[in-house]
Amino acid sequence: MTIRAAELIQAKRDGKELDAAQLTELILAYARGEVPDYQLAAFCMAVYFQGLSSAETFALTDAMVRSGASIALGEALGRKVVDKHSTGGVGDKTTLAVGPIVAACGVPFGKMSGRGLGHTGGTLDKLEAIPGFRVELTLDEFVAQLRETGLAIIGQTADLVPADKLLYGLRDVTATVDNVSLIAASIMSKKIAAGADAIVLDVKVGDGAFMKSLADARVLAETMISLGRRAGREVVAVLTDMEQPLGRAVGNALEVREAAATVRGEGPDDFTELVLDSCAHLLALSDLEITEEEGRRRAEAAVADGSAFDAYERWVRAQGGDPDLAALPKAPLIREVFAQRGGYVQELAALPVGLAAVHLGGGRRAKDDAIDHSVGVVCLKKRGDAVGDGEPLAEIHARDETSAEQAAADVLAAYRLGDEEPRARPIVLDTLA
Ligand code: URA
Repeated sequence: MTIRAAELIQAKRDGKELDAAQLTELILAYARGEVPDYQLAAFCMAVYFQGLSSAETFALTDAMVRSGASIALGEALGRKVVDKHSTGGVGDKTTLAVGPIVAACGVPFGKMSGRGLGHTGGTLDKLEAIPGFRVELTLDEFVAQLRETGLAIIGQTADLVPADKLLYGLRDVTATVDNVSLIAASIMSKKIAAGADAIVLDVKVGDGAFMKSLADARVLAETMISLGRRAGREVVAVLTDMEQPLGRAVGNALEVREAAATVRGEGPDDFTELVLDSCAHLLALSDLEITEEEGRRRAEAAVADGSAFDAYERWVRAQGGDPDLAALPKAPLIREVFAQRGGYVQELAALPVGLAAVHLGGGRRAKDDAIDHSVGVVCLKKRGDAVGDGEPLAEIHARDETSAEQAAADVLAAYRLGDEEPRARPIVLDTLA
């Protein structure tokens, strides 16, 4: 090993600025397996406490992109390709609904996703709940599928951003996710390497997000926009509410079902609104050369006439999956959580619901943990809903009684009921273009 990783860790720990060559060397050596996980974990923790300058963040992103191959999708397809990415939330299955709707509108949607991180779910884990679905396509397969079906979603591979694949798993279990530079580099390296021309970034804000305040979310959004623009991409960022889970379902197979229902026009209101808003931005950024209003109209029409659901089924089949929703795994046990008084849901905290889904087995606590795709939580009542005393608030989908009981207690504690109807909060808080 030529690199002195310990010295770089120490320099960062002590608040020194690393130059691009040092960061590149560290990340590329890690991707080649020449620096062990424990040193990168220590480095991420040093970054967590000391932060990275914008020059360092740019160098880190660039090094991650350079750890593997990159594709210029627009050139490969002769069309402008669009992509969206979320910074991570609870119940965030937006990609699963947005992809088919955008594809049904005739715009190619090609994307590299990630797995669950901390208390948040990951698109790849959700997709793997679908029997047979393959997230590890080769680059050639990715491009060919995008050309043929207009929609392809893959994971980081040995070819594409291998450094993110490794770092992502490490950060997930070392409490080093919620740092602006690490999130921005992770997301934007995937976006830049996977090659879409125009990107919508969904930056989550609130208790269930990595960014807890609007001000922090804005800094993350601006950092990612600037990384994207430096790489020649068109980027729009939406700041969206994550004070409560998105939609009702939290858990891999449960979320696939909810996303498919939304593609058919039968989704929950908050999730449907976010999906249509994202589609409107993506269609406006595409080569259709239409306004956002027209984009929204076309997205709504694709949902209403069934072409979006046809695109969903075509995509799932193309990636080897069974689109029959009855084929999704089901948890052996469903237990209801009952309200202990009547009133309105004043608050439904996203973080404990996300953690309950992880503890049920729907997420990882250690890097190589297997995921139980069937388990999770369905929030039957959300903020602003009226509830009768003893009425069900949520359902716990569990593997066994012990985990169901713990999750039921955690989810009950996530609800705050009161007499007053709370003020409505929009799902989209701001848009930065
Ligand atoms: N999503 C990613 O792809 N990376 C992060 O670090 C956080 C969310």
